[in-house]
Amino acid sequence: CFILLASLNKISLVNRPAGAGTAGVLSLCVGSEDRTPKKRFSEVQNERREQAQRTVLIHCPDKINEKKFLKFLSQHGPINSHFFYESFGLYAAVEFCQKESVTSLQNITRTPSLGPEAAIPFKSRYLNLKLRNSLNQTSELSSIQCSNQSSPSSKKLYQLLCCAESVDDQLNTLLREFQLTEENTRLRYLTCSLIEDVAAAYFPDCAVRPFGSSVNSFGKLGCDLDMFLDLDEIGKFTAQKTSGNFLMEFQVKNVPSERVATQKILSVIGECLDQFGPGCVGVQRILNARCPLVRFSHQASGFQCDLTTNNRIALKSSELLYMYGALDSRVRALVFSVRCWARAHSLTSSIPGAWITNFSLTMMVIFFLQRRSPPILPTLDYLKTLADAEDKCIIEGHNCTFVGDLNRIKPSRNTETLELLLKEFFEYFGNFAFNKNSINIRQGREQNKPESSPLHIQNPFETSLNVSKNVSQSQLQKFVDLARESAWILHQEGKDRPSPSSNQPWGLAALLLPSVANNMSLSKKKKKPASERIKNLLDSIKSSGAENSTATNGR
Ligand code: GTP
Ligand code: MG
Repeated sequence: CFILLASLNKISLVNRPAGAGTAGVLSLCVGSEDRTPKKRFSEVQNERREQAQRTVLIHCPDKINEKKFLKFLSQHGPINSHFFYESFGLYAAVEFCQKESVTSLQNITRTPSLGPEAAIPFKSRYLNLKLRNSLNQTSELSSIQCSNQSSPSSKKLYQLLCCAESVDDQLNTLLREFQLTEENTRLRYLTCSLIEDVAAAYFPDCAVRPFGSSVNSFGKLGCDLDMFLDLDEIGKFTAQKTSGNFLMEFQVKNVPSERVATQKILSVIGECLDQFGPGCVGVQRILNARCPLVRFSHQASGFQCDLTTNNRIALKSSELLYMYGALDSRVRALVFSVRCWARAHSLTSSIPGAWITNFSLTMMVIFFLQRRSPPILPTLDYLKTLADAEDKCIIEGHNCTFVGDLNRIKPSRNTETLELLLKEFFEYFGNFAFNKNSINIRQGREQNKPESSPLHIQNPFETSLNVSKNVSQSQLQKFVDLARESAWILHQEGKDRPSPSSNQPWGLAALLLPSVANNMSLSKKKKKPASERIKNLLDSIKSSGAENSTATNGR
């Protein structure tokens, strides 16, 4: 009773409503268990990529009989898992046990006849399910259970935070509500896999790999999907070792530089996604950027995608952040809270500019955790000393070696609470000598700034670069002022917390609330004195020892 149609790019011969099918955010249930990943990064990447290759994405009618749908699909082989989600319609991601099942399903899938529109017959794994004799089936149809999909609204979040038991509980709640769900993660790998199919038309054996916050364990529901086209795979598979006197090379076209090669490759892939890529809309080729990229929306998943190539160092940075996120359960909770705090106060933005980025904020949290006594996180240099031959990694002359096996790193003996760490984070950076010092997670020590950018955070692998070169003095000052005010709020709060029945925002909720932002803007009129005053007050409290800053118990 079902018909599968290949989802094709339609050439519209009729008027279409503007903005139809723009990105929607997926939201699926989040378990409360600690999901801190423990596997090696490369293992996770390979497993997820292979899983995505056995998966199809199906646009379904709004009502469908789930049992019959699965029975229909299992004619092509056993199904390992599936889930439904909503994003401008109902979608199912169905993972078969074997890759062959996907081919078998594609073989019975037809190309639609579109009436006034014409189809470009590109056969992908993004399909469309139609009901045959839908009238006869109406009685059997039922609404599908979609796991609840989006990250909580601000209102819901504040409610959850206000009901929490302690500030630590608040930070963990925020993490649980915002972290990528299992299904959202699968969809990210599936989207990369679908794009890989398009790119493979030009470059067979290429790989499209996700990187950035989709894989580094710091991604929030709704974050963009960074992916890179990995052409090194091609060499790996084909270059068998040969012996004898002859050496065979491919005839290739030469271009003046690596950058030009990247631009040319991304140009054709961008064109291809635009013309033939089912569900890829709003394709922009941003080829003159420092790191050339193709930006597009993947309608069916709702992801805003950035595709780059020749970007192995960024993948290595993602691996490093993944390691740090997995080493101690406090790391992700703290990073999520700092990222949400920065977003709530417009310190970060989705538009590129003089703002601090989430990547820089994460580096600041890592650095801060390296500076605790005893340290919560090891330095990158230490991780390098634990590396073995298999971990050795040199990319474009940069030594990116560090240990890949998490089990070789001893857990920290530090037992500080999240509440204390959050407060101390704000105090630490509220007082940091940004004018003189650079943040350096390789050595875990402040270094003299090698150049005059207001904020200097050394790139962990390309050590002569500053990852926050874009940040202006005024944005840095805004960060410092807000950090001081937030330290102050947390400090005051510890002494005088409203009762749970009063429904007053407290702890993290007080830091994220717009009213806090309003308070901040009130103090903006006298920005310098307010900020300085808070700093002095905090200093005097500390030096007189009037308040024990380790008084961090919950409510
Ligand atoms: P979101 O804001 O959630 O997207 O965080 P993100 O970590 O994905 O950041 P973004 O999308 O801006 O960048 C993707 C990845 O590129 C990061 O995770 C880093 O690995 C890398 N990256 C971003 N900016 C820089 C930079 O200035 N220097 C270096 N070396 N890598 C960067
Ligand atoms: Mg990103």
